[in-house]
Amino acid sequence: MSAVGDLSIDIDRLLRRIDELAEIGRVDGPDGEWGSARLALTADDQRGRDLVVTWMRDLGLSVTIDGIGNVVGTRPGSDPAAPAVMSGSHIDTVRGGGRFDGILGVLAALEVAETLEQHGIDTERPYSVVFFTNEEGARFAPDMMGSLVFAGGLSLEEALDARAVDNEARLGDELIGIGYDGGLPCPTAVAPHSFVELHIEQGPILEGEGVPIGVVEGVQGISWTQLVIDGRAAHAGTTPMRVRSDPAFVASAIGVFVRELTTTADSQMVGTVGRVEMVPNLINVVPSQVTMTVDLRDPDDTKLVEAERLLAAYCVEVAAAEGVEITSTSLARFEPVEFDRELIDLLEETATSLGLASRRIASGAGHDAQMLARICPSAMIFTPSVGGVSHNIAEFTADADIAAGANLLLQVLLRNLNPIYR
Ligand code: GLV
Ligand code: MN
Ligand code: MN
Repeated sequence: MSAVGDLSIDIDRLLRRIDELAEIGRVDGPDGEWGSARLALTADDQRGRDLVVTWMRDLGLSVTIDGIGNVVGTRPGSDPAAPAVMSGSHIDTVRGGGRFDGILGVLAALEVAETLEQHGIDTERPYSVVFFTNEEGARFAPDMMGSLVFAGGLSLEEALDARAVDNEARLGDELIGIGYDGGLPCPTAVAPHSFVELHIEQGPILEGEGVPIGVVEGVQGISWTQLVIDGRAAHAGTTPMRVRSDPAFVASAIGVFVRELTTTADSQMVGTVGRVEMVPNLINVVPSQVTMTVDLRDPDDTKLVEAERLLAAYCVEVAAAEGVEITSTSLARFEPVEFDRELIDLLEETATSLGLASRRIASGAGHDAQMLARICPSAMIFTPSVGGVSHNIAEFTADADIAAGANLLLQVLLRNLNPIYR
């Protein structure tokens, strides 16, 4: 092995940074588990961003912010005309999220920059560490918004006009409020050379098989729909069942239908009703309105299209039977994505050269890399999630697995930064 092949990241430094960032918006559970709530474009998101930008600047990276608030820290290469090799992820979380989802990818990418700096490694291509705005989509739809706009899949104007689910705030105003309305054009004028994202698996496969590295082949299709069900408010004690137009009953029936969509033989589909809001939300009032969301995902887009059709038809049927009106809005729709074959091979070969067992794996979650795949060769590394738990403060990945994933990231990025190493 060359000296560069022997380089490794500083795991203690990486873990310290993960913990320090997780303190911002910290959420504690009853049994010692802890995570964070840094919903996109809130004050805690701002504090998290400020901390990571400080770390970027301390490392001498030149920091730019684009029109949707994506932050890129770049270390120059010897060929200034070469597009940058890029790595990163997101630092926003769901409400009560873990310490690793997205954060690992950003801070491991930063750790790679620090390792290069510390060892005086010059590279031919520039190296960019990025965190994208609003990957989670928990507060503003769609998810992966910053990387989607970066890759030209959604106009900046449309993204800035998105409204928050909690207080109807306009995304563009929130961005100005936290000081991250950057001047750089978005979509990006220059596509990166390549994008590799390290992320926790968020599912049980790697841990179950005792394999430390997942080489991600692609991401399944995602369909998010919001349903607003308008019925008639009524007295819970006096209104006979036969005259009710009850949106809560309809929402429940749709919830059962979504589960049934996923339970046919050999189905890989997953379906979730994640948000239900009732008006007026009182024990003795048949609600006048329910707003609910349906998240459907499948690796096969034909099956996803068919499920969307069945759901729409069911909504018409149940609405007519109960005398309610349903208004359906698509909040996000992404087809399945396949990652770059050459990068996948490179990840596998590099894992083997480091003595790390790996397996190919599909992603159930959405990721920024799936948007970058529109404009440059992209791929992902997964590390095991204990118990497959994620979007939960109990989310955990063992230190040794984090080190393995980050060292694989380092070596793969080196091979892309300096073609001589390949
Ligand atoms: C992003 O976390 C997603 O919902 O897949
Ligand atoms: Mn994530
Ligand atoms: Mn997530």
